[in-house]
Amino acid sequence: MNRLLVTGGAGFIGANFVQNAVRTSRVTVLDALTYAGDRRNLETVADDIEFVHGDIGDAELVDRLVKQSDTVVHFAAESHVDNSLGDPAPFIRTNVVGTFNILEAVRRYDVRLHHISTDEVFGALSLDTESRFTEETRYDPSSPYSATKASSDHLVRAWSRSYGIAATISNCANNYGPYQHVEKLIPRHITSVLTGVRPKVYGTGANVREWTHVDDHNAAVQLILQNGRLGDTYLIGSGQERSNKQVTEAILRLLGQAADAYDQVADRPGHDLRYATDSAKLRTELGWIPQYDDFESGLAQTITWYRDHEPWWAAAKQTTEARYARRS
Ligand code: NAD
Ligand code: DAU
Repeated sequence: MNRLLVTGGAGFIGANFVQNAVRTSRVTVLDALTYAGDRRNLETVADDIEFVHGDIGDAELVDRLVKQSDTVVHFAAESHVDNSLGDPAPFIRTNVVGTFNILEAVRRYDVRLHHISTDEVFGALSLDTESRFTEETRYDPSSPYSATKASSDHLVRAWSRSYGIAATISNCANNYGPYQHVEKLIPRHITSVLTGVRPKVYGTGANVREWTHVDDHNAAVQLILQNGRLGDTYLIGSGQERSNKQVTEAILRLLGQAADAYDQVADRPGHDLRYATDSAKLRTELGWIPQYDDFESGLAQTITWYRDHEPWWAAAKQTTEARYARRS
């Protein structure tokens, strides 16, 4: 059985990945359990995995765990743009230096690496074109978060070209689904409405994101692990573009509220207008077909999950909203 090391496996996307990966691989999770990591996300597979509570900044620990693995899937990151605007330092440490530690270890032991990244590295598209990011789009990150993810992508490419490490990269659009931290748009809005608070939309709400279900993201990662070309990058995106206003109205409607029962608040500094990916390479070369091709029904399922898992998010909701309030 393939020995898989999953960094950040107690976070949103990583935990969803691990829950499926245990069927085919022996999985070790390395996670620092920051505010975003939660052991409960791995409860259903606790007996099937080795869990290591540790930091990818710890080069010796990373060395030991990579040495005993065949493949590393690297999800661990500081992932929230708003946090990066408040305090960029942990983003440099984890996203840049942490990735460097992983790269040095996979180089030493000739271990296969898949690096998880984001479409935010390409910056923003304008609202009045149909254009989409491709694997050839120039990097142009706007936030400290996306700049550190861009840095990590450049490091992976350089280690691949200069040292010949066996690596692939994927850049995915916005994810949604179960276990997403309540700081992010969709779970923040759902849990606000469920607790009687009006959702807060940054600026006009015209900004557009492309919503990809977490299971479709992880299915793409599995395809890349199996058949991806070493040294290559793959863009992942469902094609389901929605403005923040449309997403907010859909959540309110699905929860039985008036579609305009939200507040517009101060805009995010450097707020990217639109993200959209062209995932033709992944679809044609690796046969990826997103299963959640209807965003509104995926959103309805996600709402049901949050409605059914209030004990999972209640405490984090309080601390997250207190953090947002301190910033405004
Ligand atoms: P998340 O914030 O929910 O989870 C991150 C996980 O990494 C947490 O479990 C946290 O404890 C862990 N972690 C953080 N710093 C660490 C460190 N120094 N050492 C070890 N573990 C550490 O993030 P997510 O939304 O699941 O994102 C996972 C990856 O996917 C990230 O690389 C992110 O950039 C990328 N991504 C996210 C999205 C999205 O929409 N959420 C889209 C595209 C790409
Ligand atoms: O595109 C991929 C990226 O998607 C990932 O790399 C990031 O890790 C992930 O966090 C996400 O980044 P965004 O900044 O797009 O996601 P967020 O959920 O923070 O915000 C989505 C949009 O909603 C964005 O335009 C800002 C807006 N927003 C967000 C919040 C939390 C609001 O209008 N109100 C809010 O309360």
